[in-house]
Amino acid sequence: MGAHTLGTSAIANAIREVFGYLDRYRGNVFVVKIEDSLLDNPLFPLLIRDIVQLHRLGIRIVIVPGARNAIDAILGKYGHESKCVNGIRLTDDQAMPLVMLASMTVSQKVLAQLSANSATGVMGNWVRARSMGVLKGVDYGRTGRVEKIKADVVKELLDEGYIPILPNLGWNKLGQIYNVNSNEVASALCASSLEVAKFLDLGLEGGVSAEGLELPEGVVAGPEGIIHELTVDQARNLLERNGDAIPFAMRDILSHALKSCENGVPRAHVVNGLHEGSVLEEIFSSRGGGTMIYANDFASIRPASTHDIPELLKLMEAYMRMEALVPRTAEDIAAKIADFIVFEVDGRIQGCGALHRLSDEWGEIAAIAVDQETKSRGAGSRIVNTLISQAKRQGLKRLCLLTTQAGDWFPRLGFRFGTVDDLPEPIRSNYNRQRNSRVMLREV
Ligand SMILES: CC(C)(COP(=O)(O)OP(=O)(O)OC[C@H]1O[C@@H](n2cnc3c(N)ncnc32)[C@H](O)[C@@H]1OP(=O)(O)O)[C@@H](O)C(=O)NCCC(=O)NCCS
Repeated sequence: MGAHTLGTSAIANAIREVFGYLDRYRGNVFVVKIEDSLLDNPLFPLLIRDIVQLHRLGIRIVIVPGARNAIDAILGKYGHESKCVNGIRLTDDQAMPLVMLASMTVSQKVLAQLSANSATGVMGNWVRARSMGVLKGVDYGRTGRVEKIKADVVKELLDEGYIPILPNLGWNKLGQIYNVNSNEVASALCASSLEVAKFLDLGLEGGVSAEGLELPEGVVAGPEGIIHELTVDQARNLLERNGDAIPFAMRDILSHALKSCENGVPRAHVVNGLHEGSVLEEIFSSRGGGTMIYANDFASIRPASTHDIPELLKLMEAYMRMEALVPRTAEDIAAKIADFIVFEVDGRIQGCGALHRLSDEWGEIAAIAVDQETKSRGAGSRIVNTLISQAKRQGLKRLCLLTTQAGDWFPRLGFRFGTVDDLPEPIRSNYNRQRNSRVMLREV
């Protein structure tokens, strides 16, 4: 089978990817926190339409509307000073009715959009709260902490096909109402018996910006400066290292997203809710534009097997056409399959590479390729570093490689330029002068 026979269709690939994710998520609970800054935007109805579509496809949606801006606006309108200590609002008895009005208005806006899409949302008193009391001499008044969520009632509603909505209000056992943080409501839902599969925080931020931050090891930012992926440890480390350098609102979101993962949610996402299609991309592809914190190992490197050959050919095909990789057939790959590793995300191959043992001293790194849409997220570096570790384990002393278009990239992984004469046999004798690849070398 020649590589040219594997014509690819981007649309078919995208559909296949969606099928895979749908299988995985149907019947799962997603907690969706929607910041109120989105509600009055003309694009908000499109976001709700996508969320209702997820609901129709069998994903069980719980919505937590944030009300911070609405509360600020209403307090300002009635000349009530809004006081915050360490980012936490102090709610006095006079402010509480205004807070309730703002929270209800926000939830009503969400309900209205659900109705416009023929979905039924239900609001209720399912958040048990208690007073924050007095801390370090500061009386927080009617600001409360979330004590627990009545998850059994929320579950019953989900079973009935409703979309539960939990505003930022909670009640104590005596029926006293408190103003609670919606991020806390969302993370309490995530810690409940609902077994939440995903926490989505939809705001105006397109994720966590790396600008001005000290990044933990292994964390890379995408070309637009957004950190796309963080393990739980990296997220914790990012928060610890950077403290106030992360704006308060984002720090609050990030720490609650992290907490939800620590409490068992496999993935939490911080996404710009108004960026067209961002929620769908985040859920149904492995290349979302926001920031994902993940508790499970969603990306892994493993040895390739013969089953992978069609996908490997598909991945390399574009680069073979661009002459970035030497042409290889399925038979060529099959003959060396034990040398190949693949970088897999959610069961889909997005990168590959090979280490060919040439002698007891020399190894050759070859066939490094990363899916065009996954580029600049650290996959290429992970693949090459894995192959270098393999070379070390095999006792090899030196590595070589030939490249036409990545000569500027390999030096960041410790490679330096060499000449054809530096190459070991049989690479030197087989060197294709017409192709004129650059020679790169590295000690192991
Ligand atoms: C080279 C390649 C493997 C890099 O993969 P990747 O997953 O994007 O790499 P990483 O995310 O680890 O690194 C990305 C960084 O390298 C830079 N980079 C990517 N490809 C580059 C190239 N060909 N030349 C110079 N720099 C490059 C990116 O701009 C980015 O820079 P930044 O960190 O400053 O933003 C990928 O572009 C590829 O598949 N290229 C075609 C195949 C090829 O040439 N293979 C080598 C022959 S064996």
